[in-house]
Amino acid sequence: MIAKRLEVFGFRNIGQADIDFSPGVNVLIGDNAQGKTNALEAVYIFAGGKSFRAKSDRELIPFGENYGGIRLTMQSSLKRREDVMSFEYISDEGRNSVKRTAKKNGTVERKIGDMLGTFRAVLFCPEHLALVKGGPGERRAFLDIALSQLKPVYLKNLQRFHALLSERNKLLKDAREDRRVFDMTGELWAEQLSECAAYITVTRAEYTDRLSELVKENFRLMTGGKENPELFFRTSAGGDTDPHDEAAVREKYFELYTGSSDREIAAGTTLWGIHRDDIMIELDSKEARLYASQGQDRSIALSMKLSEGEISESISGESPVYLFDDVMSELDESRRAFILSRFDGVRQIIITSCEPEFFRGGDMKIIKVENGRYSSSDNGEA
Ligand SMILES: Nc1ncnc2c1ncn2[C@@H]1O[C@H](COP(=O)(O)OP(=O)(O)OP(=O)(O)O)[C@@H](O)[C@H]1O
Ligand SMILES: [Mg+2]
Repeated sequence: MIAKRLEVFGFRNIGQADIDFSPGVNVLIGDNAQGKTNALEAVYIFAGGKSFRAKSDRELIPFGENYGGIRLTMQSSLKRREDVMSFEYISDEGRNSVKRTAKKNGTVERKIGDMLGTFRAVLFCPEHLALVKGGPGERRAFLDIALSQLKPVYLKNLQRFHALLSERNKLLKDAREDRRVFDMTGELWAEQLSECAAYITVTRAEYTDRLSELVKENFRLMTGGKENPELFFRTSAGGDTDPHDEAAVREKYFELYTGSSDREIAAGTTLWGIHRDDIMIELDSKEARLYASQGQDRSIALSMKLSEGEISESISGESPVYLFDDVMSELDESRRAFILSRFDGVRQIIITSCEPEFFRGGDMKIIKVENGRYSSSDNGEA
């Protein structure tokens, strides 16, 4: 999958712009606050349906204007044809709202969801650095985003689990006053929750195994075998339960949900489930969360994102576009070189940076960004 051309008709600080991308490495270079992330954000919208950082579409319309628009021409290596997708944002001052119109090849798409999947991207932005050192929620979100894109039934199960969980939590809270309803319906909830949780657990565990192998291989190439990471899936069902064994996980959760009601009622919440899972990340057999340096931390997170793309490639048959926002700082030269070496005419990356010296030489397209304007030259001779 390749993003060929981004046309902008008003988006944040970008008035009008045409940006042509090369099929390999593209670097948006410029000082702070010039429009590097804005361009990356615009490209991401075609994969995610919405911005990765705006709370509302209004933020995307240039200050003082009431219209914004972006159009992306993309090429799929499988379909061997170009698709053109566009988003328009028109603000309705009277209603204090923004009307968004999405089109694919000229036809209005009523449901954004139907359009997703045409353009696939893997995003890595500074917030993702919390993957290693942040709480378990960050790592679960990583798994959920990756798996929901790959398997719609995963997303369905996830939504079902959370709906069941919130209902059961309500019952647990009410049971502190009067536990009759909980006692009557408890087994039914336990059965449904365990069923969902078991499917999600096995899917997450298998994905983590694949991820671990790929992250290991990335590190072998990046550090010449000096650093060895390993990822382990930790199920909230407990250490003695094999997270790859769906029947065993289902049974264990059923046991937990039916056998510890007093504790759960006292806590007023469900104490076990996929909302408590985690990925344990080790570097040279030490917990990375506690011991990894900043550069190692960044290398692991990056490597997980590269691997997410590789898994998606092996399943869908084509590489997603990698969108990396400001992730090269804090990496030494060999790690930077390793990352860039993985992108050629088949895999495309669009990367932003303030530091032109990181991208001298090599076969890459340098796009200079200045105050919402983009000018390019090949091979680093900007
Ligand atoms: N709706 C908008 N209209 C006009 N300008 C906007 C709008 N939203 C954001 N901006 C401005 O766009 C400018 C560029 O933002 P962007 O995030 O792309 O910077 P950047 O080049 O990535 O910088 P950095 O290196 O600091 O990350 C900022 O000054 C920001 O305030
Ligand atoms: Mg930025």
